[in-house]
Amino acid sequence: MTWLVTGAAGFIGSNLLERLLQTDHEVVGLDSFVAGHRANLTAVQAAVTAQQWSRFRLVEGDIRDPETCRRACTGVGVVLHQAALGSVPASLNDPIGYHAVNATGSLNMLVAARDAGVRRFVYASSSAVYGDDERLPKLESQVGRPLSPYSASKAVNELHAAMFGRCFGMETVGLRYFNVFGPRQDPRGAYAAVIPAWISAMLQGSPVYINGDGATSRDFCFVADVVQANLAAATTTRAEALNQVYNVAAGRRTTLLELFGLLREKLAPYRPGLSQAQPRFRAARVADIRHSLADISLARRLLDYEPQFDVERGLTAALGWYLAQPT
Ligand SMILES: NC(=O)c1ccc[n+]([C@@H]2O[C@H](COP(=O)([O-])OP(=O)(O)OC[C@H]3O[C@@H](n4cnc5c(N)ncnc54)[C@H](O)[C@@H]3O)[C@@H](O)[C@H]2O)c1
Repeated sequence: MTWLVTGAAGFIGSNLLERLLQTDHEVVGLDSFVAGHRANLTAVQAAVTAQQWSRFRLVEGDIRDPETCRRACTGVGVVLHQAALGSVPASLNDPIGYHAVNATGSLNMLVAARDAGVRRFVYASSSAVYGDDERLPKLESQVGRPLSPYSASKAVNELHAAMFGRCFGMETVGLRYFNVFGPRQDPRGAYAAVIPAWISAMLQGSPVYINGDGATSRDFCFVADVVQANLAAATTTRAEALNQVYNVAAGRRTTLLELFGLLREKLAPYRPGLSQAQPRFRAARVADIRHSLADISLARRLLDYEPQFDVERGLTAALGWYLAQPT
């Protein structure tokens, strides 16, 4: 069976690609390199044998183009759809661009997968779909109203996927990732995720900025657990597990101040001055939710998902990668 990973040159996509090749699968990768990097593919190549790498085929193209999606889906059994534009604040400046890639592009992928007879379509949704619902922990059945174009685009993905199950008999599984972190997450740019951005700042001796008062909390999920959830969703034989969406997270909450302390502790042995470092506070970001914590019991029950990493273990596992990055 051949797998298609869209967004294969990105952070999560390249981790999926690495695991699939290491377990001797045939993989097609689709990416436009708008946010992903060729270096991520080179790193995957270095992590697998030459024979495993020979089972990889890259389609360079854009999911906004239906013909590209069709080409990528040919002969594919399972799709792991990760390609998307990923920033909540950036989406506020570009609602049309985000809709074109995340909503229309994903619809193009669903149509191409259906027409190619793909057996299962697993796709990346997001905790952003919880929007303005403040209840904790987040339960799959209780979503609020979207707080950004990004969040709306992910909600549209879920509507389309569920509809393809009902109208065309497709097997789809949506995975609502919470804040994912780990090797190959891009530390650069104004919209970098908090963990790689702070680690990069700490290693460079630059100030670390906390948006808000530091009590904001997130459920940080290590990328290996996201890989685990994708593989479980792609291979489950339980009928009741299909055409569902699942929270994918660690199921624990960490405040930004706790995260700062943890990162300082991990990195101080390598940058001694850091042990005295203090964060700087600035205004909270628009459209940022205050707290996030997943209820992961549905994924546990139907996908046998069991996170192997909390934030501390994940940071320990990824430390070598973070330290090897050029500063
Ligand atoms: N990282 C997180 O914390 C997180 C949280 C929730 C959801 N997600 C979702 O997970 C998925 C993967 O995210 P990531 O963190 O790996 O981001 P990423 O930016 O590293 O990867 C996304 C990849 O998609 C590619 N891409 C973007 N637009 C494309 C297009 N039009 N055509 C083809 N390829 C395109 C990019 O080049 C990139 O390689 C996304 O759908 C994202 O919304 C991520």
